[in-house]
Amino acid sequence: MSGFPEHVTITESSSRDGLQSLGAFVPTESKSALIDALAGAGLQSFDAVSFVSPKWVPQMADGAEVARGVTAEGLRLIGLVPNMRGLESAVEAGLTDIGVLTAASDTFSERNINATVDESMHRIRRIVLEGPENLTFRAYISTATHCPYEGPQDPDWVAYLAHTLIDWGVHEVFLGETIGKATVADVNRLLDEVLDEVPPDQVGVHFHDTYGQAVANTVVALERGIDKMDSSAGGLGGCPYAPGAAGNVATEDLLWLLDGLGIEHGVDRRAVADVAQRFCSDHNLVYNSRAGRALLASRDEE
Ligand code: HMG
Ligand code: MG
Repeated sequence: MSGFPEHVTITESSSRDGLQSLGAFVPTESKSALIDALAGAGLQSFDAVSFVSPKWVPQMADGAEVARGVTAEGLRLIGLVPNMRGLESAVEAGLTDIGVLTAASDTFSERNINATVDESMHRIRRIVLEGPENLTFRAYISTATHCPYEGPQDPDWVAYLAHTLIDWGVHEVFLGETIGKATVADVNRLLDEVLDEVPPDQVGVHFHDTYGQAVANTVVALERGIDKMDSSAGGLGGCPYAPGAAGNVATEDLLWLLDGLGIEHGVDRRAVADVAQRFCSDHNLVYNSRAGRALLASRDEE
């Protein structure tokens, strides 16, 4: 279909964003097994673990062990780090794909990582400059359209942050729509500015689906030539510092959209639904993909 990329890369976020807010600790081996099972469904890139303070986010305390427990080969496992301490742990765990964190809004950034936006940008600069040379960096700009505390954000400011991060050597910038409030109008306004500053092949989107807008917002990103996006199997997730925010767009819902548009992705949507539904049932979680529920209910359809 003209205008859309022919192929997209999905980064699967369920083992990190999907689990980080859960109170009940998910055993380490279940987290590794989730990644392995989703790799079996064709996913290759994972927002896998984070190396953050276990006092702030206890669920992520076992990042190194989760990464080491993954047996599938050739995967891209991203470790999210908020500071140099996190970087050291990620490197020690053998990861070479590093996620770094900033935000458009100071209040969110302070609640999330105890640093203003300016401070978080300087932390990122240090991580990129001082990290080993073999690393690749993905920067998340959270609250790219809306902050849960400060409201709508300025697209020009986000574009400036994105441009600065790329100038500093970050390989890709992911726009975090942290609370899932944005509509296509907001995403168009944001991309008008960001894509003026950064080429689409260095931009990715990370849409949460709180208000049910994530699939529509993904269409806008695709129309702009963006071919990298995060999603979470079974719609698992949320952010501990964005109360009430739902998970990322469900991987199954995203796959239904991409399949309908004829865009290649290499992932088996029914297999993702099977894995996520089983994981949710094993861990007493709500399975939250609409496409997945429909697929599972109509087993003979395909
Ligand atoms: P702080 O309290 O300012 O840190 O927290 P500190 O440097 O004063 O250290 C306090 C304690 O934490 C010390 O331990 C440090 O050693 C330890 P103590 O001496 O008290 O025993 N510490 C660490 N331990 C493990 N790993 C580390 C680390 N750093 C310090 N890396 C800090 C600052 C950044 C650590 C904290 O705020 C934090 O961990 N925040 C992470 C919060 C988080 O994980 N949020 C969710 C991820 S972001 C997200 O979901 C958004 C995203 O999905 C995109 C979107 O949706 O928009 C990516
Ligand atoms: Mg998120």
